[in-house]
Amino acid sequence: MEYKNLLLEVKENIAVVTVNRPDKLNALNKETILEFRAMFKELRGADNVHVIILTGSGEKAFVAGADIKEINELDVLSAKKFSERGQYVFNYIENMNKPVIAAVNGFALGGGCELALACHIRLASDNAKFGQPEVNLGIIPGYGGTQRLTRLINSGRAMESILTGDMIDANEALRVGLVNHIYPQNELMNKTFEMAKKIASKGQNAIRFAIKAVIAANQVSAKEGQNYEASLFALCCGTEDFKEGTSAFLEKRKPEFKNK
Ligand code: COA
Repeated sequence: MEYKNLLLEVKENIAVVTVNRPDKLNALNKETILEFRAMFKELRGADNVHVIILTGSGEKAFVAGADIKEINELDVLSAKKFSERGQYVFNYIENMNKPVIAAVNGFALGGGCELALACHIRLASDNAKFGQPEVNLGIIPGYGGTQRLTRLINSGRAMESILTGDMIDANEALRVGLVNHIYPQNELMNKTFEMAKKIASKGQNAIRFAIKAVIAANQVSAKEGQNYEASLFALCCGTEDFKEGTSAFLEKRKPEFKNK
């Protein structure tokens, strides 16, 4: 498929997806949301892609939110669809069969913050700014932010962000656990690539099962989560990679995973 608002580059088993509307600070219009759906479906089945990096075009913004021009036109029924469409696509990203790392290179506001929250890992540049400013527009987050932010960081802190609409800077985002690491803007992509390469070098079945187990921790009871973990652990032990990984350790050599 041809993408108008997304760029895709694949190298060394790592896909870099860039939201490319820099003149609108990469705001997510409906077309971009639909392109995300197609892009992530394509990447799901791409055996040469082990890890996905998501970032924004330019040096100012990751994604400055859903497109306010389109939001302004919504009525009750179209707003329900708007929210459900975004939630579907962001859930799809969260449930990807391979890791998705957000390289947050500037403003991550509203839908942009929610997009970063749907990714498995968030790394940020030192100029990044996060926020859920929807209340300034007379609305609330509609792409999963009220749920994911509250689960990721302290719920009082999430409530404050959502009720005040205030932005926080990269240091504060690090402090509250919204991002894992901060890097100077010009190092962000290299550092993100480094982490992606490390993950891409592991057995990809174990990576896929690990994502499923960790995601389940936010969705099911501890008991159900542990049962699920045991089943996924058992599945790992049916793979060739498990034999290779454990044998390599015992033979004091580096494993050569074939992702089988
Ligand atoms: N939707 C649509 N357009 C957006 C946008 C959004 N979420 N965010 C930025 N833009 C557009 C601006 O309208 C402007 O377009 P124009 O040049 O055609 O007028 C362009 O991007 C540049 O933005 P501008 O506001 O001029 O940049 P700035 O540096 O002065 O401010 C922000 C940057 C991020 C603080 C400001 O753009 C902003 O507050 N954006 C909206 C954030 C928001 O509320 N997001 C949640 C939406 S639910």
